[in-house]
Amino acid sequence: MVEEGGLLKCKICGSVLEKVYQGPKTGKLDDLEELTPKHEGEGSQKHVPVLERDGDNVVIKVSEITHPMEIEHHICFIELIDGNTTYRKTLKAGEEPKAIFKIDTDINSLKAREYCNVHGLWES
Ligand SMILES: [Fe+2]
Repeated sequence: MVEEGGLLKCKICGSVLEKVYQGPKTGKLDDLEELTPKHEGEGSQKHVPVLERDGDNVVIKVSEITHPMEIEHHICFIELIDGNTTYRKTLKAGEEPKAIFKIDTDINSLKAREYCNVHGLWES
């Protein structure tokens, strides 16, 4: 079962959905698959989000080697996760694969994730 906050991908259309609430019963999600974030391995230098503190802001870049942002291959969104709170920036082709959130939480307690339309979900 996909946990609250987990992401699902439709096997038919490729849409990505977030499960924000688990209802009291188990429903059928036959056309959806859970996205498991990757942290390392092939492609990690272009995908694992990098967090940096810049004054009152947390800057998230994708990644050590800047990821392409072409229509066929780009970062669709970047999320910053602070406990039960998730901040999200959606991106389009041509934009910089970067997000800035004003947040004063200790950077070491935060995590970030991003979704590449070709290579899937990656997490810091
Ligand atoms: Fe990619």
